[in-house]
Parts: sequence; structure tokens; C-alpha cells
Amino acid sequence: GIDLSQIFFKPTQNTSTPSPTKRHTKISVIGTGNVGMAIAQTILTQDLADELALVDAKADKLRGEMLDLQHAAAFLPRTRILASTDYSATNGSDLCIVTAGARQNPGESRLNLLQRNVEMFQGIIPPLARSSPDTILMIVSNPVDVLTYVAWKLSGFPSNRVIGSGTNLDSSRFRFLIADHLDVNAQDVQAYIVGEHGDSSVALWSSISVGGVPVLSFLEKQQIPYEKEALERIHKAVVESADEVISLKGYTSWAIGYSAANLARSLLRDQRKIHPVSVLANGFYGIAGDVFLSLPAMLGRGGVLGVTNVHLTDEEAQRLRNSARTISEVQSQLGL
Ligand code: NAI
Ligand code: 2OP
Repeated sequence: GIDLSQIFFKPTQNTSTPSPTKRHTKISVIGTGNVGMAIAQTILTQDLADELALVDAKADKLRGEMLDLQHAAAFLPRTRILASTDYSATNGSDLCIVTAGARQNPGESRLNLLQRNVEMFQGIIPPLARSSPDTILMIVSNPVDVLTYVAWKLSGFPSNRVIGSGTNLDSSRFRFLIADHLDVNAQDVQAYIVGEHGDSSVALWSSISVGGVPVLSFLEKQQIPYEKEALERIHKAVVESADEVISLKGYTSWAIGYSAANLARSLLRDQRKIHPVSVLANGFYGIAGDVFLSLPAMLGRGGVLGVTNVHLTDEEAQRLRNSARTISEVQSQLGL
């Protein structure tokens, strides 16, 4: 080797090593396909971790992705990036994001992926949980709600540390469409899609507000007529968004990349922000049984800190329970 120790002048005072002022944060991403890499690159650009571990079953692809990200070091905040097919690389993670698994073909339902991805999870979740017994688990692989339940069961973790990325993404699509319609910034549109991340999701029209104005009650008070069908069309567009993108480019990646990074920030930086994510919903809104689906939840360093008691109309509550039933029926075939 070359001795470069003379490059730096040593401090003249005899200083002991200072204790780090910032806590070391480690994120692991399991699955380095389109989705895992979109999440990884958003985490890097947003400076969310000191260490990023990547795991995939394909060693060459994994090493290629690791090197390609490492080569951007001069343009990014400093993050140690490592990769391995072995779960020991994830040791001591604060957050593990699971994106490994099969994805839909155009026109295919997310629920159709279940069997393939449950088998995969049996090989992923137990070693991941052993390597980081205190981690928060964020599931992204589809069908995300059922797989979040599977991850909860296989990890043995308390439910506050197991979440699914859920409808945080669908809600962004919803906010984009409403914002586009009104020509305002989507960040000023507060609107939630809850329930399944999939075909039975529920749009909470009754609680939408734009810049503090509750939209539906405003229209009603001002006696401005609106067609329910127009609202249904916007929700339908949200539900069909993924399929539209998949039929055009083969997969979705950028929006879920930002969505997962947005959740990672709230969790690891203890932001206590409200996000619609997949949580254990037993006992909320008349939902019975161990089912995970998206509800507006407060997220912080402890994972799920609470679930908002948002007012639902009778119709919205009924649709939410129907969505829970759809997920439960699929879950009951699992025998976990
Ligand atoms: P992809 O095929 O590009 O990547 C999947 C990766 O998983 C591959 O690199 C593969 O080698 C890896 N993998 C397979 N078996 C593995 C194992 N046993 N251990 C570790 N890695 C393994 O797929 P893509 O497009 O990245 O999608 C991944 C998943 O994310 C799919 O299930 C998809 O439906 C889901 N997804 C979920 C979204 C959400 O909002 N929840 C949004 C977009 C996609
Ligand atoms: C998405 O909604 C396919 O679940 C994926 O983009």
C-alpha cells in the first residue's frame, strides 16, 4: 500500500476522539429491482441515512447497483453503501424496507402475486428480523397489505414496528389529480385514500380540504352542485394509475421511491407526521380481526404512534369494512 498518513496535519492539541454528535442511522433495502433502487437513490439524495445496506438474491446485479451508487459519492451526502446476498449486511438497521418480489403484468391484480411473494417472505423476514431485532419494518412488495401481515407474523415484532407503504402512494396520486384539476400545489391538498393499496381502496371525500377549506361541505354550503360520478371518476383514475404506468413502462418506480423515502424521514427523524399507511387495523372503524390496511397514522421513531380518528361518512366506513373483508378473505387462505 501507499502511506498517505502525512496528507493531513495532525491537531496540535492532544484531543481525545469526540463522541459523535449525530446518531448513526442505518437503512436496509431488500430487493434491488426498479422499486428498491428508486427508494435507495431517493434516500441517498435526501441524506436520510449514514449507512445504506442493499440485499438481493442476484449477486451480480446487486454488486453492479452498489458500485453504480458508490460512484456518485462526489455528488451526494456521505453515506456508507454496502451490499450482500447475506443478511448479516443488514445488522443493526434502524429501518428495513422490503421490496423483493414478483410484480404485476399489465392488467394483473396485486393480489395475484400473493403465493409467490409469501414463499419469498419466508426466506427474507426471519433472517432480517434476527439481524436487526429492534428495527422498524416497512413492507413495499405486493400485495402490500397482506404481506405486511405476513411480515408481522414472521418477524414476531410488535405491530407498531411493522408498517406497509400502503396508500401513502395512492393518496399522492389522489392529491396530484385534485391539485391538477384545481391548478394548485398538491402539498396544499389534504386528501386521503385509505383501505387496501389496490382495487378496493376508499377515497375519503368527506375530509378533503384545500388550503384549509373543507371542499365538499363548502360546495354544499354555497349550494354549488357537483356530480358524485365526477368524484367516482377521480377515484377510479387513482385505482387505475398503477396499471396505466405498468402498461406504458412495465413497472412503477419513481413515485413509490419518493413515497417510501417520505415515510423513512417521518419515522427516523421522529417527525410525528400523519401518513396513510398499512397498520394493524383491528378494533378501528368497526374492523375486527388481524388485518393490515391503510389508515391515517402518526409516524415517528417508535414506528406507528397512533391512528387518527378521522370522521367517516356511513358510506365511507362501509367501504372501508368491505376493503378489510377483501384483504381478510385473501389472508384466510394463507394458513399462517
Ligand atoms: P423487480 O423485478 O424489478 O425487482 C424485484 C427484485 O427482487 C429483483 O432484483 C430480484 O432479484 C429480487 N428478489 C427476488 N427474490 C428475492 C429474494 N428471495 N431475496 C432477495 N431479493 C429477491 O420488481 P420491482 O418493479 O422492483 O417491484 C418489486 C415489488 O414492489 C413488486 O412486488 C411490486 O408489485 C411492488 N411494488 C409495490 C408498490 C407499492 O406501492 N406498494 C409500488 C411499486 C411496486
Ligand atoms: C403501484 O401502485 C404497482 O403497487 C404498485 O405503483
